[in-house]
Amino acid sequence: MQLQTSEEDAADVVYTTENGAPYSNPYDALRIGSNGPLLLQDYHLTEIFGSFDRERIPERVVHARGAGAHGYFETTNAEFCKNYTMMDMLSENGLRTPITLRISTVGGESGSADEARDPRGFAVKFRTRKGNLDIVMNNTPVFFIRDPAKFIHFIHTQKRNPQTHLKDHDMFWDYLSSNPESNYQVMRLFSDLGTPYGFRHMNAWTGHSYRWMKADGSWVYVKLYCESMQGVKNFTNTEATAIQGSNPDFATQDLFEAIEEGNYPGWTVYAQVLTPDQAEGFMFNVLDLTKDWGCSLVPCVEIGKFYLTQNPTNYFAEVEQAGFSPSHVVDGWAASADPVLQARMFAYSDTQRYRLGANSLQIPVNAPIVPVANFERDGYMNVNGNQGSRPNYMSTTSPIQLYNRTWSFDSHQQWIGGAVQSLSAVTEIDFLWSRWFWNNLTETDQQNLISNVVGHLGEAPTKSIRERATAIFAHINITLGEAIAAGVGVDVVNLTFPEHSAAHPTWFNHTIHSDSST
Ligand code: HEM
Repeated sequence: MQLQTSEEDAADVVYTTENGAPYSNPYDALRIGSNGPLLLQDYHLTEIFGSFDRERIPERVVHARGAGAHGYFETTNAEFCKNYTMMDMLSENGLRTPITLRISTVGGESGSADEARDPRGFAVKFRTRKGNLDIVMNNTPVFFIRDPAKFIHFIHTQKRNPQTHLKDHDMFWDYLSSNPESNYQVMRLFSDLGTPYGFRHMNAWTGHSYRWMKADGSWVYVKLYCESMQGVKNFTNTEATAIQGSNPDFATQDLFEAIEEGNYPGWTVYAQVLTPDQAEGFMFNVLDLTKDWGCSLVPCVEIGKFYLTQNPTNYFAEVEQAGFSPSHVVDGWAASADPVLQARMFAYSDTQRYRLGANSLQIPVNAPIVPVANFERDGYMNVNGNQGSRPNYMSTTSPIQLYNRTWSFDSHQQWIGGAVQSLSAVTEIDFLWSRWFWNNLTETDQQNLISNVVGHLGEAPTKSIRERATAIFAHINITLGEAIAAGVGVDVVNLTFPEHSAAHPTWFNHTIHSDSST
């Protein structure tokens, strides 16, 4: 991917001011005599301060800390994909689509340690022949919330206390313990999966159900799962704590150096598909982001692979200014009615208009490789010619061609199966995945999870918060709960939750087993 001009790369460039005029000495400040005041006519000095004073832009409100690289996606199973989607990039085996990937932590600031206990973001921009598609994932199949209105509360509690400006263990656990639908994500976060070894040794999931659509208007639910070719590898808490102290940039450095050495990281992409009919009878509400599907419940079928083959030439230009959004979709890939996804369809482009400006999609790393033609004009930093002399309205004399869409939105019958009602009601079904997860951990991993929770929850000063959080762990598994209770100095309180009536009864005979859950 070529984002820099050859002039910028050349070693023999001449030092100039921003207007391109050669200038003799970058260290010059003009003054009267040897000790006199500076001169307002020193345009070089005013320019360099004017530029420096404006270097910082708002960091991402979440996922501020991250690293990125470029590469390509290659389709390997067009036969399968074409049964379900008209996506151009999946239409031919061997077709390569250029990508940019950014991997991030969630709660820390831009300069924070990248080995913190946190989920990892995994955002991919596919520059397809039919426009850019962003798939904005995490290294986990589920999330803490299924009601988007909770997102701000959740994020505030994982960041800093408004008074002390410190990370606050009371806030952290107060939120999670009073919103128990988060329990499976919390179990994953406090296992060693919460401290992955760098950015290359972890898997990624879309989490949400999206929809694959065909030209005839038919559609299926789809989730994607990306499996690291490097294998899954994690730090223990002790190792992660040590590395945060000795090298807070470990993951960023590890990714950069691997690519620089030609040791290109890769991921295999699998799709899971459910028809709307299958979705209605499925064990979990497919619009519930707190539930995994698991490859043994819904087969994971390989559809392609991607590799990171090129480091950014300039971090700010190609990683900091990258703007990924679930609303950047292409034909054949569409949102489902998952309420969290619906909220994300708004939030990302909205924040990027603030963070990067109204014309953020003109920044080279964000611009599609195909021409853009529409009626959006002007605004700050409009740098690509502003669509020239083409009419800026639906002209009858010089029209831009309209794309002949053969499918119709009317045929999109959505199954909402209770997803939009009772978003916060927690029932027994919300603990199934956590129980499966706990039962499938090795004894060492179970002990690590216990000590990771004890080390963190034990720092929460308020006893009732420690007690409430412990009760949730005890509801998942009593041995787990008792060990945590002993570690954080509380008694185990019994909790009861109603059965989940909406789930399809026959699915409860299935044993949850997922080879996609590490
Ligand atoms: C970043 C909002 C849930 C993955 C962001 C950003 C916002 C945001 C505002 C900053 C974007 C930017 O500055 O460019 C939300 C909201 C959510 C939500 C409102 C729920 C209501 C999720 C979920 C996932 C996710 C469920 C994954 C499945 C990411 C990733 C990034 C990100 C990977 C970093 C993108 C990058 O590298 O630039 N989110 N988010 N988020 N979010 Fe979310």
